Amino acid sequence: MKSNDSANSEITASQTAIPFVSFAQDRAAADERKKEYPYRFPRDPRNLGGKYSVAENARRLQRFFYLERRLMQGLGAWTLGIPEFEIKLETGRHIFYHGDAARLLRERLHEQEIRLKDIDGFRDPEIDRLLEELLSAESASELLVGVHQVVGKALATAYRHHIDDTDPVTDAPTIRCLRRILTDYEPMLDWAEAAIAAYIQGGVPEAKLAVWRWHLQKLLTSIGGMTGSDPRTEAPAPLRCESKPFQRGTVPVRDVRFETFKNTGDYDVADTQERFPKDSYENLRLRFIRTQRDEVDAIEAFGTFIWDIRFKDFESEYNLARITWDETRHTEIGHRALLASGYDPFELKNRLTGSTCRGPMEPAFAMAEINLFGEVGVLKTINNLIDTAAERNDRLLHHIADFIRADERTHVRKGQGILKVMTDLDAKALELRTRELFTECLVSLGAVKKDMDLFTVSREDIERLVGE
Ligand SMILES: [Fe+2]
Ligand SMILES: [Fe+2]
Repeated sequence: MKSNDSANSEITASQTAIPFVSFAQDRAAADERKKEYPYRFPRDPRNLGGKYSVAENARRLQRFFYLERRLMQGLGAWTLGIPEFEIKLETGRHIFYHGDAARLLRERLHEQEIRLKDIDGFRDPEIDRLLEELLSAESASELLVGVHQVVGKALATAYRHHIDDTDPVTDAPTIRCLRRILTDYEPMLDWAEAAIAAYIQGGVPEAKLAVWRWHLQKLLTSIGGMTGSDPRTEAPAPLRCESKPFQRGTVPVRDVRFETFKNTGDYDVADTQERFPKDSYENLRLRFIRTQRDEVDAIEAFGTFIWDIRFKDFESEYNLARITWDETRHTEIGHRALLASGYDPFELKNRLTGSTCRGPMEPAFAMAEINLFGEVGVLKTINNLIDTAAERNDRLLHHIADFIRADERTHVRKGQGILKVMTDLDAKALELRTRELFTECLVSLGAVKKDMDLFTVSREDIERLVGE
């Protein structure tokens, strides 16, 4: 070996298996030039190394992607069945967090040369069984235990380990991807701890939750943890999902603070008395705000669709997850705007008409109702409402309706693509069948009289009766 550097005597044999050739005059000249360089910039301490090859990296990320996708779908399946308002809202947000984590992982996997078709086509029966069992929770509190305290916590740990173990230079994009996911995970897991503590304080037996947690943790260990590489132990038995396969709820449930109605879409009819004259601004304003709060049913609709069309098309699942979060915000906006208008939000009855009809319905028709009728219906009246609010200097309504308009326009646009994935029917046939199904449902709820001359209620009537 030809080198004049005395430090080279410490280089071990394996490091010098490939000899290097350094000319003394070049090394000395480089040293001289470095002396001329005046800047002492911060030193980047990262070193080459890391535990994973591209293939092993991709194997792990593929599992992470799959777990995130399944969590998004699984929480969607539970949206109808969660009674507590705060938990339903937070879950609507978490559906998007998991969807967005899946999207980021999918992008990185694609950069690791896995075809999108293969990423989306990946299935893992062991993970499926874990998810099925976790979804077989008997209550929303058990659901939170499984989703957050067992799987969520283990995923966050797996992400942190991956960040520590992968090469910080060659695989920097994976590290950035996982850090961004953890930005959502940290507040989500903290919230879940506090929420479960609140359930316990409110009377849910702590031991029952602890038994369930331990059961799911054993099941997770039996499949080698999040990465599949941890030591495996025997699976617990029996599994709930084996004696009774998981089925999503079909009935929208509310907590005890709500008084609900489903026999009409009209708030004045439900209240049995008018608060304001029928076409007055005050009436339209309150109806708009109540409708937003009652979009808690839109969380249920879009969340349920993610489950019902699961694995058909990732982009559609992702768009539905985003819409679910938007509807969560609309609900929050409505709740807060009611408070800011002087009401206790729980003194105002909650409309269940739309959700009751959509709950058991095939996804394409339910989607057509909420997207083509509900959201399009909102856009027909919202411009006028915003203009009137501006004229009257009603800043609260102007502000919220402005943002909601932008969201709903986006939903109508995204909805077109989602509907194409859900059905082969053309627009006309889809609209007609949706109207027929909703007529049947509205008749059964007593919102429409059977002796009406019309065979099916019109688009306008559905917009008015179901209202979104
Ligand atoms: Fe909305
Ligand atoms: Fe919407």
